[in-house]
Amino acid sequence: MKSNRILMVAAGASALALGLAGCGGTDGGDGGESGGNAEVEVFTWWAAGSEKAGLDALVGVFDDQHPDTKFVNGAVAGGAGSTAKDLLQSRLQQGDPPDTFQAHAGAELQDYIDAAQVEDVSDLYEEFGLNEAFPADLIDRLTVDGAIYSVPANIHRANMVWGNPSVISDAGLDPEAEYASLDEWIDALEEIDASGVTALSVAQPWTQVNLLETVLLAGLGADSYEGLWSGETDWTGAEVTAALEDFETLMSLTNDDRDGLDWPDATQQVIDGDAAFNVMGDWAEAAFQEAGAEAPADYVYFPVPGTDGVFDFLADSFTLPVGAPHPEGAKAWLDSVSSAEGQEAFNMAKGSIPARTDADTSEFGAYQQTAVESFQSDTIVSSLAHGAAVPVSVLNQITDATSKFTTGASDLATYQEELAAAAGE
Ligand code: GAL
Repeated sequence: MKSNRILMVAAGASALALGLAGCGGTDGGDGGESGGNAEVEVFTWWAAGSEKAGLDALVGVFDDQHPDTKFVNGAVAGGAGSTAKDLLQSRLQQGDPPDTFQAHAGAELQDYIDAAQVEDVSDLYEEFGLNEAFPADLIDRLTVDGAIYSVPANIHRANMVWGNPSVISDAGLDPEAEYASLDEWIDALEEIDASGVTALSVAQPWTQVNLLETVLLAGLGADSYEGLWSGETDWTGAEVTAALEDFETLMSLTNDDRDGLDWPDATQQVIDGDAAFNVMGDWAEAAFQEAGAEAPADYVYFPVPGTDGVFDFLADSFTLPVGAPHPEGAKAWLDSVSSAEGQEAFNMAKGSIPARTDADTSEFGAYQQTAVESFQSDTIVSSLAHGAAVPVSVLNQITDATSKFTTGASDLATYQEELAAAAGE
């Protein structure tokens, strides 16, 4: 196991001489208003359902803490930023940035840093006392050449299975069964599939990539999985082939309408009893909560079999874009995002856990207590589908290759070659 709990993203972390004047260095900034604090346009993909409920909870704290700054919702629908990220890119390229935008800590953030699209906010870390509030290894991940470019709002776990106990027991299986390996779980899924119900729900390609990363993690183990992103693990090797075979088997046990759905639809199939299981990051917990479901009577959850003891990590963070029209509004937003009150309200509703170590999680639900515990004691690895492991350009290639494979437009050997090529092999 690697010694550092959160592994530094090596790719692109080279010296950056951005020549920026720190977080106070934005030009414009008046937006027609004195000090640029009249409003803040917050760009996210939390546009609906439980994700919007999470954002609303944060906005509630923001409105209390910064009553003079109007929150302007710039959310663009589409799970995992599947639409938002492209739109953001064109806005940034056209010099029309929002006042702040959501970006994943890790390689995805590095894209914006390399393109000099985000300001160094380390002054705000000093001002708000954040160097002491966030775990040191998270700060390491966010630091590039002594500068920090975003403020984390949360920690999510991507390698979770969510299940419907009634559907599982109707298929003749024990809903409380624990599966020691992916193979054991696949056996159970095949039984469920044979009983005529959807064994595993999935949605559009990014959710398939979310599934893929957990299967790679189960098949390769944490170290070799991380090696896929550092270049140490051979993408063309037999271990990856075996994992892709498992992925192919799992995909054969999923719903046919998957490509037209987004994650809430796939999770809803489990909530509604139309599917037995769904592999999804723990934003799914918020969807179960929103539906009034209670574990273990209404739903069960466990790490993807074969990944127990590993926390597949991602963090949503917020930035101060270069040229933000309302930089003071953005700083007010970053203040609320990073405050204990903001992190408690937001994460309680979002299914995630606070990035702050001093936030009070005693009122959080049972699932989130497991995440708090697991984040402290498990091996941490970087999520592929959610910006921690690879830049957006690489993720896009992996997603395209995955979509070709799962729609039957390529075979497994071609898929593996395309994944290797995407990863730069
Ligand atoms: C992730 C994001 C989560 C959640 C999820 C589904 O990329 O980090 O906060 O929104 O997408 O949309």
